Amino acid sequence: MAGFTVDVHLDGRGVLDTIGEDVRRGLSAPRKFLYPKYFYDAHGSQLFEQITELPEYYPTRTELAILCAERENILRRAAPHEMLELGSGASTKVRTLLDGRPDPATPARYVAFDVSESIVREAGEDLVRSYPGLEVHGVIGDFERHLGTIPPAEGRRLVLFLGGTIGNLEREERQAFLCQVRDLLSWGDFLLLGADLVKDVDVLEAAYNDSAGVSADFSRNVLSVINYALHADFDLSLWRHRAHWNANAARIEMHLYARSAHSIRIVDLDMTVDFAEGESIWTESSHKFTRETASAMLEAAGMTLDTWYTDDREYFGLVLARAT
Ligand code: SAH
Ligand code: AVI
Repeated sequence: MAGFTVDVHLDGRGVLDTIGEDVRRGLSAPRKFLYPKYFYDAHGSQLFEQITELPEYYPTRTELAILCAERENILRRAAPHEMLELGSGASTKVRTLLDGRPDPATPARYVAFDVSESIVREAGEDLVRSYPGLEVHGVIGDFERHLGTIPPAEGRRLVLFLGGTIGNLEREERQAFLCQVRDLLSWGDFLLLGADLVKDVDVLEAAYNDSAGVSADFSRNVLSVINYALHADFDLSLWRHRAHWNANAARIEMHLYARSAHSIRIVDLDMTVDFAEGESIWTESSHKFTRETASAMLEAAGMTLDTWYTDDREYFGLVLARAT
């Protein structure tokens, strides 16, 4: 049935109900950390969209160009009756696939799964206006916990997990997540996975330390989310952003560094946290892959690399993987 419906798995404040326990764990650790899924309130999603336009941030435009060039091949091979996108954000890239459909009636359904309610609602409303006849189903929740709530597949399914978001999960989370994705597929269904690739350190670090300071605002936004959701009093001006490449772990690490020693209070957790000058909160990892490491993580989750697409510079990999 054409139209737009949304299921929401957030608490009354529009936030994941795990935020309290995750913040307590992260800020009690010897090396303090926060999970990147908490960046994405309405403002965080807007900041990410701004990042995608930055001259230094190559992943979005590179992946989109690959998708544009290969969409006929991808659609012919996967022949989906429905598309399910995880971490769908503004749902911009799925338009490239929808515009390339040989038959405008197939796929007839698009399921958009994201933690950020405002962006899914906006994107869903735009999509049903642009593609009359398309059924759009939004699911708002945590793709690490709520995949079981996704409505059953209506025929052959193509799962999209784009943008390199797979790299924001740590190795064990990533494998557990990919196994759950495999469970959403029937034998022979496909996953289209975007994986950012290992490359020159200067290119990588520039993408996460942009000169306009948007990445810095994006990283600090997690503190605003905690202020709102847990009644905390982080002063964002006391935090400096820096991202660096960790070659051993093949990842960019984003940190916020305290400009001076200070304490903050989190009322809902009845918790005070002391920070030394220069102490960091690790806010995100963004792992980078090679064809070999991408293929290995898929194999370990019961999928096999079917087709590997990349750009001339080999900056970004788009993997079509088959459930085996
Ligand atoms: N796929 C889009 C957006 C990538 S940004 C693109 O390629 O441009 C990452 C997206 O994943 C954001 O929209 C964010 O809200 C979502 N996200 C991050 N962690 C999530 C989680 N644990 N569960 C659900 N969505 C998540
Ligand atoms: C969503 N994800 C793939 C982005 C990335 O590149 O790791 C998030 C991001 N962090 C800083 N800039 C963009």
